[in-house]
Amino acid sequence: MPTIYDVAREAGVSAATVSRVLNGATTVDPAMVARVLTAVRELGYRPNAVARNLRRSRTTLWAVIISDIGNPFFTAMVRGIEDVAQREGYSVVLCNSDEDPVKEETYVAAALSEQMAGVIISSSGSVKAAKTLTGSPVPVVAVDRELPRAVVDTVVVDNEAGARTATEHLLAAGYRRVACITGPEGVSTADLRLRGYTEAMRSSAPAEPVIVRTDFREQGGYDAMASLLSSPEPPDAVFVANNLMTVGALRCLAEREVAVPGRMGLVGFDEIPWADLVHPSLTTVTQPTYELGRTAARLLVDRIATPAAKPARIVLSAELHPRRSSSR
Ligand code: RIB
Repeated sequence: MPTIYDVAREAGVSAATVSRVLNGATTVDPAMVARVLTAVRELGYRPNAVARNLRRSRTTLWAVIISDIGNPFFTAMVRGIEDVAQREGYSVVLCNSDEDPVKEETYVAAALSEQMAGVIISSSGSVKAAKTLTGSPVPVVAVDRELPRAVVDTVVVDNEAGARTATEHLLAAGYRRVACITGPEGVSTADLRLRGYTEAMRSSAPAEPVIVRTDFREQGGYDAMASLLSSPEPPDAVFVANNLMTVGALRCLAEREVAVPGRMGLVGFDEIPWADLVHPSLTTVTQPTYELGRTAARLLVDRIATPAAKPARIVLSAELHPRRSSSR
C-alpha cells in the first residue's frame, strides 16, 4: 500500500508538503500541488493515520513506557506493540521506568515535549504521570497495568481471577498456610493479584492470609521469602505475584535447602521460559504477553484515527499451568 513517503518521493517534495497539499493548504506552489496530486492518483495513495499526524505536526513515533525491557514479560509484550507499529508506519521509542514513579514522570514529560504520536504505558503507579498524560492531547493506552485514576483505552489480563485460581489450586492440593509475596502498593497488577489471593484465602482457607509486599524485583522476592521462612510459623506454600520475585524466592528456598514441593508449595504469576525444564517444574499463571502488546498497539492506532471515540477496555484471560512445584 503506497505511503505518504512514496507520494513525496514520486512528486519530488517532502512528506510534510504532501500533507499540506492533502490538507488543502493554499501556500503551496501550484506546480508542486499538481505534482503531488498526480502522484497520489498514479500511486492510488489513501491518507491514513500517519498523514493525519503529519498534518497535526506530530511525529510518527510512539513512546512505550514499561518497567524493564530486561524482564522477559515486557520483552514479549513490546514485540507485540512494535510489530503493529511498524505495519502502521510508526516507530517505537522504549522507556524503562524501573518501577520508579519519578523516572516515569520524566519519560512522560519527554514524550509530550517531543510531540510523540501516542504513548503506551505499563504504569509504575505515578498519579502525577497519569494526570500529565490525560491532560495532554497525546493519545494514550494503558497496557498490563491500569493508569491510576484515569479512564483511557486499556488492555489488561484478569489479574484477580488469575491470583484467586492460583491460591485455590494450592489450597485444593492440601496446603493450609499459604502466603503471598506481591509488588508495590499502587501498582494495579500487584494490588489486584493480592486481592485475588486474599479472596481465595478468606473463602476457603483455615489460616489467615500472610502477605509480604516488595518491589516486583528478584532481590525483593528473595528477601520476602527469607522473612517468611524466619517467621515463627512459616507458610507451607507461597503464591508469588510476578516472574522476577518468583526467581528470587526460588533462589532463597534453594540456598536454605527447603524442598519444593515437599516443604513448600509454590505458584508464580507469569510464565517463565524454563518453567518446564527445572526440577521440580514450576506451576505458573501465564499471561498472553504478545497479545497484550499487539492489542494495545491496535487500540492506539484506532485512538489516533478516532480521537473522540469512547475509551475501550479489553480484559484477556490469565491461565493456570499446574506443574510439580504446587503438588503435595
Ligand atoms: O514484573 C513483571 C510483572 O509486572 C508482570 O506480572 C506484569 O503483569 C507486570 O505488571
